[in-house]
Amino acid sequence: MRKWGILIVALIMVTSVLAACGQNKNNAGGNTPANESQGSANTGTASKKLIVGLSADFPPYEFKIKNENGDNEIVGFDVEIAKEIAKDLGAEVEFKDMLFDSLLNELDSGRVDLVISGLSPKPERAKQVDLSQIYYKAEQSVVSVTKDKDKYNTMESLEGLKIGVQKGSIQEDIAKTITGAKLTSLGKINDIIMQLKSGRVDVAIIEGPVAESFVKNVEGISITDAKPVTEDEGYVVGVKKGNKEMLDQVNATLDRLIGDGSIDKFVTEASALAEK
Ligand code: ARG
Repeated sequence: MRKWGILIVALIMVTSVLAACGQNKNNAGGNTPANESQGSANTGTASKKLIVGLSADFPPYEFKIKNENGDNEIVGFDVEIAKEIAKDLGAEVEFKDMLFDSLLNELDSGRVDLVISGLSPKPERAKQVDLSQIYYKAEQSVVSVTKDKDKYNTMESLEGLKIGVQKGSIQEDIAKTITGAKLTSLGKINDIIMQLKSGRVDVAIIEGPVAESFVKNVEGISITDAKPVTEDEGYVVGVKKGNKEMLDQVNATLDRLIGDGSIDKFVTEASALAEK
């Protein structure tokens, strides 16, 4: 009987320890809305946390690597910028990887505090969320399988083609302006590359640095000479609409990082990491 008693006490102890862990995990996992005290960076509570939303399919901006411990880690120059913003806020940073086209809704509803995800400053986006100053600029690229590279060397040559783009991106907008183009809009860049390799799309429109990274890592694809243009140039940080304090803080950190050359350094480092 006594044995059973000890067993039950032990069981209760184990269960409560597990429950406590579960709770911590919930907070860390950001399942609670970001605007509740323990999750939010802007409530001034003791354990500040900045929850950053991104789509980690985008080397060298944000992508996943296996670190020394064999764990998945999200890295990239956007990630470094986010860490600096958190540092200036005196907050811990947590990244939430999601589909690119869901990021602004997550920000809008307060489930993330910031979006840093190679986000271009499209006027419609500025209606939904507030956008920081531009922290970096890059061009757009067209990617094809290498044997088609010379065939698709102008924007006109893309007319009527099957074009792969990321869902909700400005590349989708660009592709829509191409006469007769048949769009395949997908959630993650990797899937677009797979469609390209298997011939289900003829070309993909992707941010220049991301295209370069994929071309280096995936055999049989190349960047063509076609040069898409967009008015929504550059990359900005998304902040919840009306959160002026946060927007000012983000812009102040960006001023610092642009001013002292850190952004360029982050880009170089992240590009080297993406090549591995
Ligand atoms: N710059 C493009 C846009 O804002 C694409 C960004 C995609 N970002 C990503 N992390 N997949 O629409």
